[in-house]
Formats: sequence, C-alpha cells, structure tokens
Amino acid sequence: MIVRKMSIDDTDFALSLTSGEGWSDIKSDFESLISYSPAAAFVGEEDGRRIGMISAVSYGNLGFIGSLIVVRDCRNKGHGTNLMKHAIEHLSGLGVKTLMLDAVEAAIPVYRKLGFSTVCRSLRMKGVVEARRTDNVRPMTRRDLPTVLTIDQAHFGADRSHFLKRTWSLFPEFCKTLDIGKSVQGYVMGSPGNDFIRIAPWIVNGGVHRGEDLLRELAAQSGGKALRMGVLERDTTTVELLKTLGFEEVSSSYRMIHGDSSIVGLSQGIHAIGSPAKG
Ligand SMILES: CC(C)(COP(=O)(O)OP(=O)(O)OC[C@H]1O[C@@H](n2cnc3c(N)ncnc32)[C@H](O)[C@@H]1OP(=O)(O)O)[C@@H](O)C(=O)NCCC(=O)NCCS
Repeated sequence: MIVRKMSIDDTDFALSLTSGEGWSDIKSDFESLISYSPAAAFVGEEDGRRIGMISAVSYGNLGFIGSLIVVRDCRNKGHGTNLMKHAIEHLSGLGVKTLMLDAVEAAIPVYRKLGFSTVCRSLRMKGVVEARRTDNVRPMTRRDLPTVLTIDQAHFGADRSHFLKRTWSLFPEFCKTLDIGKSVQGYVMGSPGNDFIRIAPWIVNGGVHRGEDLLRELAAQSGGKALRMGVLERDTTTVELLKTLGFEEVSSSYRMIHGDSSIVGLSQGIHAIGSPAKG
C-alpha cells in the first residue's frame, strides 16, 4: 500500500467509507482537512485502488488522528496499522508530542499495539432541546471571530482557527456567541447532519450552565431537529446537564492518548469536542 495526500477528487470516496460505517461526516469535513496546512488527510492505495484513509491534524505540540477506515474486503491485512503508522510518523515529523484519537471499542487493540492508552469514554449525545431565545445569545459575527478564537485557544490549548473559521463561513446560521456583561464568554458552532445539527465545538468560560442558552438558541434555529455532540465522559457536569435537557447517549468511543500527557489540559471549558478527527 502507498499512502498519499487526500485530494478534492477523493471526497466522494471518503464519504462512501464514512456512510458505510454510519458516521455523520459531510463533504465540508474532508474539504477542511484537505485545505489544512500541513496536509491532514491521507488515502491508502494498492495497485491503483483506494483502500483506506486516515486524518492526522497537527496543532503544534498536539495532534489528532481520526477517520481511519479500510475498505471491508481489505481488512485484517495490516493496512489499518500501516495507515496509523503513517499518521504517527507524519505528526511526529511535524514536532507533535502528544497524539489523541477517539477509538471505537473494536479498534482499541490496533491503537494499544501502537502505544496509545485509554483516557475515558467519549460519548455521542443527541437530543431535541426545548427552544428558547435570550438576549445574551446572538449570531456570531466576523467581528466576534478574534475573541472566539482567543477563547477557543485558551481552552483547547492550540490554534484551530482554520477549522473554526471555515465552520463559521459555511454555516453562520449555526454559530452563536454568549455575552455576559459586555463581553463574549462562550460560543457554539454547528453544522447540518442528515437529520440533526452537529454541535462542534461548544465552549464556555466559567461553567457549563452558563452555556445552556447557546443550545436553546440553536434549538430555535434547528426547526425542531435534534442536536448531536461529542462529550468526554469525565466532564460529568456537562453530561448531567445534557441529560436534564433531554439528551441521550447514542454511541460512544474511547478517547486515547499517546506520548506526553502532561501538556494536555483537557479543559473544563470544552463541553462539546470539535469532532473526533479534529479534537
Ligand atoms: C479499524 C480498521 C481500520 C482496522 O483496519 P485493518 O486493516 O483491518 O487493521 P489491521 O489489519 O492493521 O489490524 C487488524 C486489527 O483490527 C481489529 N479489528 C478487527 N475487526 C474490527 C472491526 N470491525 N472494527 C475495528 N477493528 C477491528 C482487530 O483487533 C485486529 O487486531 P489483531 O491484529 O489483534 O487481530 C478497520 O477494521 C475498519 O475500517 N473498521 C471500520 C471503521 C473503524 O472502526 N475505524 C476505527 C475508528 S476508531
């Protein structure tokens, strides 16, 4: 198998793999990875046939691996492991010290063999939230972006402005900010899935309860559709809040880590992760 950068011509292939697994990726997810610099998505090819893919996003010291899929008739031949090795080498070469990923249970052995260990469960939660409009939540504007990016970096620990700016430019109707006093203290971004709105990320200064109105505003925007997001199980306050708002756990994976864990904040302020592939 050779591994090469994913190109725009590969997005239909990538989406055929994710939909085959029942994952909720949309075309712009792969376009974001492809347009990231340095390269963040790769395709495995054998004899000219595309047989797998993986994403590997570097944010300075921190890197996220995701979207690992091998076509069904080529599994259990070592290709998944080889794609992982490529992603790890790529990120290490860029100076990444800590790697993270969200693993489905069946794939954990693949990652353990490569040196990853489990941090906690990573939950997917979905629910139809009662809509409510409040004065302190408003559409995110271009002028808000620098503040939003600063809040995000403070919690996430790295600059992921490429992905956040793209989400805002593609789906501004699902991007909201929370004002407390006269300043922005939190934000949420969403994008349309098939029959739900995908929340990623949702970040609030000073406790998740302050961010409830962001979800209620998105519910008003979503026209009765469910909201869906990824939440780390160790964020028990958020999990409890989501349950009281009507969310249920629909599936889960395991957040795994490789390398230097001391530089990973796993901030208290990140209530919805930015996606398994992008952190
Ligand atoms: C996970 C996956 C990429 C592994 O690809 P692969 O080419 O079969 O991987 P390898 O041949 O290198 O390794 C095989 C390992 O996959 C694991 N595996 C087997 N069936 C699996 C399944 N249905 N899902 C996940 N992992 C599986 C086995 O533990 C096996 O480990 P072993 O060598 O100890 O038996 C592939 O099974 C796949 O695409 N699964 C569906 C998508 C998915 O779950 N991706 C991972 C998300 S975290």
